[in-house]
Amino acid sequence: MLNSKKITVGVTGGIAAYKTVELVRMLVKEGAHVNVIMTGAAKHFVNPLLFSAITGKKVYIDMFDDSDSGRITHIDLAKTCDILVVAPATANIIAKAACGIADNLLSTVILAANCEVVFCPAMNSAMYENPITKQNISKLKKIGCHFVGPKSGMLACGTEGLGRMAEPREIFDYITSLFFDDDLKNLKILITAGPTVEHIDPIRYISNRSSGKMGYSLAEACAKRGAKVILISGPVSLAPPANVDVVYVKTAEDMYRAVMKEFYNVDIIIKAAAVCDFKPREIKSDKIKKQDVLVLELEKTPDILKKLGEIKGKQFLVGFAAETRNIDEYAVKKLKEKNLDMLIANDVSIEGAGFDVDTNAVKIFYKNGGAVELPLMGKKELSYRIIDEIIRCRNEKRG
Ligand code: PMT
Repeated sequence: MLNSKKITVGVTGGIAAYKTVELVRMLVKEGAHVNVIMTGAAKHFVNPLLFSAITGKKVYIDMFDDSDSGRITHIDLAKTCDILVVAPATANIIAKAACGIADNLLSTVILAANCEVVFCPAMNSAMYENPITKQNISKLKKIGCHFVGPKSGMLACGTEGLGRMAEPREIFDYITSLFFDDDLKNLKILITAGPTVEHIDPIRYISNRSSGKMGYSLAEACAKRGAKVILISGPVSLAPPANVDVVYVKTAEDMYRAVMKEFYNVDIIIKAAAVCDFKPREIKSDKIKKQDVLVLELEKTPDILKKLGEIKGKQFLVGFAAETRNIDEYAVKKLKEKNLDMLIANDVSIEGAGFDVDTNAVKIFYKNGGAVELPLMGKKELSYRIIDEIIRCRNEKRG
């Protein structure tokens, strides 16, 4: 998701520095190149070795300890990063930044930075509520600096109040939103996710192993990038993603109706759902009693994707395909037969890919020929990569 993005994390002296370890781990896991700068006080809370082990790089502490000869560290660190995050940000570093004081490596880098700067305050609530701190924060906000938190709760000094550093997940989400802020702002995207269930009797049904994770990750990523997202979801146990309109359905017929209702109003459709291909010809109104052999007669469900391919106009239509063999052959066939703009083939026989796991590996097939493989990675990161491809191809198609 953050492939090759350059992020500098400044750590100041506060108990919350332990949470920054997790934040840095999350950033590195998502592919970011992270440099850590620590103030002298920060070293009392977290050993620099910990950051160095996570990032695989030297941790910068001293302004004048430049072992990379020929480079001016503070200028390099300030100029080469996409985002500078200060977490935890004490009242002291906020005051220095607001007044343009550059008396250590971190404050110098903040002053020299011409990228987005994100402060994650953490301090005693009296310090946070002090009018001087408030003025400093509003001064920094006025020149475009970002603030995440602080939050209310138990503080290190034993009192309750506003001053806890935001949780690493919240800071991480904020950082990613800065990279992808609103690039899909004018788009309406319809995504399907999860399985469908086809009833046999009041107790039993036919379904499949789709957890909805792939479709939900795509919906979350599209919403984070500013799109208006409608997620049509089969039964799953996932929380709805933020800022997404979710329509819950059960059967393939329900999904067909829900998709058709929205289809004409959207720009892009991504069909990640694992729709059951068959349903029982008859749903018994009473529970089927135990018997030695039971023959179920099945009939085809509506092929939603095929129908969309037949009626589509300006919409960019993306199908998924879960396969266990002859991936390329089946993918190209589905792409043509269903008149898709793109097909994302999922070899679900690969360990860690496909159903009910957090990772996936896919091969994207294009309408005009050619394909690209995206190796095994988290479904969240994969979603960003897939969306990048969809937007690139859609722009090409529109000339
Ligand atoms: O949900 P997860 O646990 O995260 O797993 C993700 C996934 C494996 C379900 C997902 O990555 C995936 O591959 N989804 C498509 C699964 C599938 O149903 O493949 P298919 O080859 O059977 O269908 C091809 C396409 O036609 C799909 O876009 C499907 O949504 C669509 N279809 C299928 C049948 C049908 N009756 N109507 C349809 O629209």
